[in-house]
Amino acid sequence: MCGIVGYIGKRKAYPILIKGLHRLEYRGYDSAGVALINEAGQLNVYKAKGKVSELEAFCAEKDTNGCIGIAHTRWATHGEPNTVNAHPHYSESERLAIIHNGIIENYAVLKAGLMEQGYTFKSDTDTEVLVQLVEYTQVNRHVDLKTAVQLALQQVIGAYAIAILDKTHPDTLIAARKGSPLVVGIGEDEYFLASDATPIVEYTDQVIYIEDEEVVVLSTKDKVQGTKEEGIEITTINNVTKTPEIKRLELSLSQLEKGGYPHFMLKEIFEQPRTLTDSMRGRVNVRQDNIALSGFIDNKDRFLNAKRIIITACGTSWHAGLIAMYAIEEFAQIPVEVEYSSEFRYRKPVINKDDVVIAISQSGETADTLAAIQLAKSKGAFIFSICNVVGASIPRVSDSGCYTHVGPEIGVASTKAFTAQVVALTMLALCIGKEKGTMTEEQYLRIVRELGQIPDKIERVLGQNKRISDFAKTFTYAQNFIYLGRGYNFPVAMEGALKLKEISYIHAEGYPAAEMKHGPIALISQEMPVVVVAPHCGTYEKVVSNIQEIKARKGRVIAVVTEGDELVSKIADYIIEVPETEECLTPLLTVIPLQLLAYHIAVVKGCDVDQPRNLAKSVTVE
Ligand code: G6P
Repeated sequence: MCGIVGYIGKRKAYPILIKGLHRLEYRGYDSAGVALINEAGQLNVYKAKGKVSELEAFCAEKDTNGCIGIAHTRWATHGEPNTVNAHPHYSESERLAIIHNGIIENYAVLKAGLMEQGYTFKSDTDTEVLVQLVEYTQVNRHVDLKTAVQLALQQVIGAYAIAILDKTHPDTLIAARKGSPLVVGIGEDEYFLASDATPIVEYTDQVIYIEDEEVVVLSTKDKVQGTKEEGIEITTINNVTKTPEIKRLELSLSQLEKGGYPHFMLKEIFEQPRTLTDSMRGRVNVRQDNIALSGFIDNKDRFLNAKRIIITACGTSWHAGLIAMYAIEEFAQIPVEVEYSSEFRYRKPVINKDDVVIAISQSGETADTLAAIQLAKSKGAFIFSICNVVGASIPRVSDSGCYTHVGPEIGVASTKAFTAQVVALTMLALCIGKEKGTMTEEQYLRIVRELGQIPDKIERVLGQNKRISDFAKTFTYAQNFIYLGRGYNFPVAMEGALKLKEISYIHAEGYPAAEMKHGPIALISQEMPVVVVAPHCGTYEKVVSNIQEIKARKGRVIAVVTEGDELVSKIADYIIEVPETEECLTPLLTVIPLQLLAYHIAVVKGCDVDQPRNLAKSVTVE
């Protein structure tokens, strides 16, 4: 979703801002823009619909001088994606320029009030209202810009991360956040600002995560050699002074590059043997047959006394949550509910003090998931989060948690984050089950040992990439796909369908295989590809019967089976084999061919795999 970059220092800002926007492209956007104050004190704003490269082309002949600037990628909420609605937005006098990520919910009321005062609006955005409100406040209350920002934000209902330039103060950059992420990078006599650390990492590893309702003033004015914090002032919107807390960034530049792969998504699919090893490192000890999850160990009683576990997440993370429901109920025998965060937060759920709420989020910034856990926390539930981005909002408001440690996931369609979430949740289920005594020692040991084998087994599945790519070509004609699975592999069917939808724009539905008879069977014809996830599990024979039913209606079956399968191989049109494993771990293997299938179909169709239309990597508005 919208991306923010800012720079103030001694270097030319424009190249830093553009590079930063490219780094943020993965978040999803439909227009881009930049504002710079040049040496003559002019505030220049340039915007373009479409990609950052289009903005660059537009700026080629323009004045891009200046050592202070802000830049933005916009994912449209209020107003269609066009140049006028793109950020930055000027204030009435064109003295201020703003960029914004989030939604100002009461913008209509604020706008009406400003229009009565004679303010005019060029765009349909809620953002323009905010910059006008800041200017109006400053002019009418005779206050400095920081105070005007504070006072304006006190009137705002909604979410925001903003950055503002004032051409009369070319040595000061002001930013603020509530609900949308913002991080400040500290260099030598220079500061960077961004929605996440990816635009900052090549300049500095010293960062400050801005908290909700904080306003940060970055200044190079009168800054002689001194402490790094010298040019940073943080206050709340009520003007309470805060002490900046500098953190060290654990992110490397190579993690943000494609490393020879044509797309980030393919790189991330192929990284999974390593990323899962990283996720398990220091946690799964195969030699000692043990799992040590510090977030669990430190809060054992909350889990052991839990009457219920509620899992809340969105998108792919929600699918990981569904798999966890099977594992936690099987091993720990605690009832589990899996909720879409967006529904949970608004349906007045009954939440008790002895509930454990597990939030799953790759980005750690998904607005609905963040709001869901804030609600659960206010009712006294214990919040445990499984996130990938270290220091993001969700882990910061959680009571405890577990990072997945897979490095940055750039492809919009989640792959390596999903398998790591499943591993983290499986480890948690095993920890609770062992501690509660609800699973046998033998079962625990078997699964722990098998977890250690998973990276190698994924490697074997990846070995079939070429074959999957070959037969993917024969399916690009399809308008629809059905994905079927049962038990632990029902969520995998949904995840496979989601991957295909996201990146190839082919309509796809994931169903529990046995539900096929209650609707989807009507759709089956020789035109309809059906992907069936059918490893050797408890319900294998029943799934085989479903395949027979599809073939009887001339559907084309792509089956994911266990190595050596003889039954399905005879009836399916295409088979992809995965190694034998414990039933609870089969999703970690069966999902891999579905990721590859979606990827190759999308590539053959010529789709933008890493940045599919309309999608955002990090959904920071509800
Ligand atoms: C967006 C992304 C998905 C992701 C979902 C939840 O829709 O495109 O890939 O699964 O958000 O994101 P989260 O960061 O909370 O896991």
